Amino acid sequence: MFDADNLAQKYALDRDCTTLSRHVLQQLQSFSPDAQDLSALMNRIALAAKLIARRLSRAGLLEDALGFTGNVNVQGESVKKMDIFANEVFISVFKQSGLVCRLASEEMEKPYYIPENCPIGRYTLLYDPIDGSSNVDINLNVGSIFSIRQQEGIDIDGSAQDLLQNGRKQIAAGYVLYGPSTVLVYSIGKGVHAFTLDPSLGEFILSHENIQVPVHGPIYSVNEGNFWQWDEPLRDYIRYVHRHEGYTARYGGALVGDFHRILFQGGVFLYPGTVKKPEGKLRLLYESAPLAFLIEQAGGKASTGEKVLLDVVPNALHARTPLVIGSKEDVELVESFIRDTLKTL
Ligand code: AHG
Ligand code: MN
Ligand code: MN
Repeated sequence: MFDADNLAQKYALDRDCTTLSRHVLQQLQSFSPDAQDLSALMNRIALAAKLIARRLSRAGLLEDALGFTGNVNVQGESVKKMDIFANEVFISVFKQSGLVCRLASEEMEKPYYIPENCPIGRYTLLYDPIDGSSNVDINLNVGSIFSIRQQEGIDIDGSAQDLLQNGRKQIAAGYVLYGPSTVLVYSIGKGVHAFTLDPSLGEFILSHENIQVPVHGPIYSVNEGNFWQWDEPLRDYIRYVHRHEGYTARYGGALVGDFHRILFQGGVFLYPGTVKKPEGKLRLLYESAPLAFLIEQAGGKASTGEKVLLDVVPNALHARTPLVIGSKEDVELVESFIRDTLKTL
């Protein structure tokens, strides 16, 4: 006999059982060592995310969780206590994992080696421990961004030459958004999937599978305070959206949050070069490239405005690049402004 209650319960149970590690194994349809590695890697990232989310959720009550450390990082930016905490969380969850030989982060000038992992650890983790740190002290959303690459050789001098390759070398990428819920979005090259942390279970549970970004969306997301520092084509694009119906501006000061909105609702995020910073602000290896990997998997596009982002080869670990990312048609519209100007030069 059909029993609607039973069916609903069974459905809820199925959903609650789709944890992150199970999902990775299902995606790879295998229990091969590589599949087990990826599943374990994602599990460790999930643990880091839970530790960071826990501290963020009580930060206002803790001593020494908020504010600046007084130091400046390799980017020339003032470091927050939360940046350091989150940076160390990733290191500590990968110690003794046997999985990751090297970690490279926004907060470390040179890669961090875990020598005991190196004979067997075949992966490098690149990450932005806290993205949008200006939001931290005022309890607005922040994120963590990660990218996993196969380890190619060991260079203890820290030059990390093998990392200076394009974004297609990534085998997995994603981010964690610390908002009203903690959400982890990832791809291993088989679509983009989102998991929501269920605090009562302490598990990330599948909430959106095979996310596709709309081909066009209403949102443009850019720091317009830099308007007079951009090149003319970018200014022309912004004038265009001002003069046409159907556009709306959203900018939260944390790339992860702004990107997440666009992934679900469509539109474009831009961080172009400025007079002071011709390459823009965002770092290729652990900010732009992982999000470009996701957006391509979701049917969208990412570019520098002139070049496909995943084809860009960095010249240094902390290299920056302009970023235009989001819905296919919206990214192409921005590119067309840039291309048309280049033609007339
Ligand atoms: P981070 O906190 O990791 O340095 O990244 C901040 C980035 C990014 O999250 C955001 O989109 C952008 O900086 C905001 O910069 P502006 O304040 O220049 O708009
Ligand atoms: Mn960042
Ligand atoms: Mn950061």
